[in-house]
Amino acid sequence: MLILVVLAYLVTLIQGYDNGYLTSAEPPKGWSTWCTNELCGIPDLCSEWEVKKKAKSMVDQGMTALGYTWVFLDDCWSDTERDANGELQPNPHLFPNGMKALADHLHDMGMQLGLYTCIGTKTCKRNRPGSYNNYETDANTMAKWGVDMVKADYCYKPSEENGQDLYTRFSKALNATGHPMLFSMCNWGEDQVYEWAPDIAQMYRVQMDHLPFWHWPPTAMGAGYGAGTHDIINYMADLNPSKWVKKGAWMDPDFLETLYHVCSPGDRICTTMDFTASRTEMAFWTLWSAPLLMATNPEDMSDDKRAIIMNKEVLAVHNDPLFVGGDRMYNATSGAQAWRKPLNNGDVAVILYNSGETGQSTDVAVAWADLQVVDWTADDTVTVRDLWANEDIGDYSAGYSTTVDPRDHVFLRLTKKMA
Ligand code: GLA
Repeated sequence: MLILVVLAYLVTLIQGYDNGYLTSAEPPKGWSTWCTNELCGIPDLCSEWEVKKKAKSMVDQGMTALGYTWVFLDDCWSDTERDANGELQPNPHLFPNGMKALADHLHDMGMQLGLYTCIGTKTCKRNRPGSYNNYETDANTMAKWGVDMVKADYCYKPSEENGQDLYTRFSKALNATGHPMLFSMCNWGEDQVYEWAPDIAQMYRVQMDHLPFWHWPPTAMGAGYGAGTHDIINYMADLNPSKWVKKGAWMDPDFLETLYHVCSPGDRICTTMDFTASRTEMAFWTLWSAPLLMATNPEDMSDDKRAIIMNKEVLAVHNDPLFVGGDRMYNATSGAQAWRKPLNNGDVAVILYNSGETGQSTDVAVAWADLQVVDWTADDTVTVRDLWANEDIGDYSAGYSTTVDPRDHVFLRLTKKMA
């Protein structure tokens, strides 16, 4: 008996909390239903035929070839009741062939399926069933369907329960299925999540929802400085991503809102993530090795959207196998900020950013001495490459400086020239 207990304990230790998901995998890239075609999360786009159509367009447009292989259904797919066996079930009108058939379909296309649930008693929207008290059942259901990613949200967590305990229980249940499933935790950055989530999840939200705005004032919900792109960039700077991000434990600043544009009737109020804001968003998410789940319509890939989402040199920085979460080097009162991410071949990716505080253009500089690359000195000659333009700017000694407009940035790859 004692031997059995010891063996069981050893198996638990060996299994760890990897959920069977390869920790060597890249941060996930793909599409989420959340803001597609309308106000984020209000009438969320979610049906078997729409999802298949969007997935096909991702293949046809070459997005999957670049690694955008994930399809994630947020709080939209499930029925309002569990089935007679107490299992989660999809809305039968929206998914008449069931989730296994959808997962099979996506797998045949070389894609993966992610599904949403909640750690609490109900989901955040429309009182769909949450997974509380059903972690094993729901993990088994997801595994049975062949689901590849499970996001667990934080609504309706019973107040007497500890969030970390609940997420740990769900993680163990996913792990115990033996089916590889990426666990995406969404506790809105509460409880210093970055300190404990890497042991139980492959990605974890560090902040409240990213709304399709540049700046949105802080609210009572969730950690962070607000929900706009500008707010998230400042919040991430203070978290020091390089301290926490590692392969298979991605910090998640939430979905990409690339070129989101929605207006009220009569176009009286419009919400827009313009080209500058969207490209700045993409650069920072890339620098942090964060998941790149685009929450706007993948069928609507305008030239601007392609330029942002499908730039191979930018994606190479995202996928760089060192998987460092880039950090801020300085933050000046002018709005000038410089950020850096060391890369596997010894290059350094740098963002020279104007946070737009003053509404004015400003000079932003990087000095080699500040990059903290051990063998780089101020005397070194460094080739500076513009990652968005895919062209070299030139060779520089000591450092590089340029003028940047508000909310904009330059995204650079620096390569030291060998003597
Ligand atoms: C919360 C999450 C969002 C989304 C919605 C769904 O707000 O933070 O990402 O999943 O719930 O209702």
